[in-house]
Amino acid sequence: MEKMWAGRSRKQTDALADEFNSSVAVDGRMYREDITGSLAHAEMLSGCGIITKQECDAICSGLEGILADIESGALVIDPAAEDIHMFVEAELTARIGEAGKKLHTARSRNDQVATDMRLYLKARAEDIVALIKKLIGVVAEQARNTRDFIAPAYTHLQRAQPVVFAHQLLAYGMMFTRDAGRIGDAVRRMMNDCPLGSCALAGTTYSTDRVFTAKKLGFGGACLNSIDGVSDRDFCVELLSAMALVMTHLSRFAEEMILWSSSEFGFVDLDEAYTTGSSIMPQKKNPDMAELVRGKTGRVYGDLMAMLTVLKGLPLAYNKDMQEDKECVFDALDTVSRCLDIFAPMLKTAKFDREAMLKAAGGGYINATDLADYLVGKGLPFRTAYKIVGGIVARASDLGVTLEELPLSEYVSFSDKIGEDVYDAISLRACVARRVSEGGTGAESVEKQIRFLERFAG
Ligand code: ARG
Repeated sequence: MEKMWAGRSRKQTDALADEFNSSVAVDGRMYREDITGSLAHAEMLSGCGIITKQECDAICSGLEGILADIESGALVIDPAAEDIHMFVEAELTARIGEAGKKLHTARSRNDQVATDMRLYLKARAEDIVALIKKLIGVVAEQARNTRDFIAPAYTHLQRAQPVVFAHQLLAYGMMFTRDAGRIGDAVRRMMNDCPLGSCALAGTTYSTDRVFTAKKLGFGGACLNSIDGVSDRDFCVELLSAMALVMTHLSRFAEEMILWSSSEFGFVDLDEAYTTGSSIMPQKKNPDMAELVRGKTGRVYGDLMAMLTVLKGLPLAYNKDMQEDKECVFDALDTVSRCLDIFAPMLKTAKFDREAMLKAAGGGYINATDLADYLVGKGLPFRTAYKIVGGIVARASDLGVTLEELPLSEYVSFSDKIGEDVYDAISLRACVARRVSEGGTGAESVEKQIRFLERFAG
């Protein structure tokens, strides 16, 4: 196929070079956005009197035909094309003749690709936000199911204080709301300034209407600096970093699901639809989906690093290095989507074990803080109470009993302020119920959190 830029060179490019240079296998997926951008551009050219109305009509119906044919499968994107922009333009000219050759007036592939990317990423990012919301809905649902399951919460992976299990699930829900917000912010900024019409880098000699195309394509306006317009890939980095954080959260959650599903914890039983067996050990039920989510996190971090590294040494304006942006961002989009897709049903079908959690909460003296608070209620300063309780815990541990099992005679030997009412004060259920502070694990706060997530999920 003759190159569109064949005028300058006297020699054919090497076949290997063509293959190396081609990005259509990757950017072919932006065909819709490429055509949408071209439709707006053609309309602008005609509105500004740069092409005729007839030429514009021919271009637009040609482009619409190409779009319909790609979607129906009647037209296959040529894998030998240099990129999607060249493919669409060549196909248009093949279909409508001379008018097709006018489409590229007052634009360049540099501003075209920067525009296409924004349009494509916007659509995909919105899909990801929808998936995040779906997951948030599942988190809220499971939080409702486990809102009165007493469980230990941990610091340093040591049992720390009793909570209702829902409170831990809800913590993940909060992370996902921020993720959705962060992606939304990235999309908003990405759609502020349209690069289309920046042309190769310096703008154009034609009297164009950049605001028209910008508005038509859903941007806030036209970018102010054409060099920045074609060389800016900040939006890729922003979106990638937002996606890297989604993966951080999914990965931490996955890690907990893996721990919770171990026999050592036994807090959760994952549905067999989302676990696998071992080829040798017949008893095994492995949490592969959660492990894969955790594993794929590294990949998305890698995509972010790759993108940053591609950009770091680039002089202005467009450089072919930038073609690499798509592989990073698309891989991250695909990976994050798949992880969200699998995580939601895995969580939804998981069975949480009230008894196992209660049992775990019973060990480890996780009501020691409450015992100290009890003494504070009897008039002792917290530091004094803290010290006394340390001694009580050591004693109980020596005797091999829990704080609930420690006889009153033992208690009073540590402090005469302790009475029979201590047992009510340190019962796990009371400990949880009394965490009434805003955002705490008390019932009212948990209900408020669940409602917040339910509303967020829509
Ligand atoms: N395929 C190219 C990319 O994705 C399109 C822009 C090419 N521009 C150029 N001057 N070679 O970056």
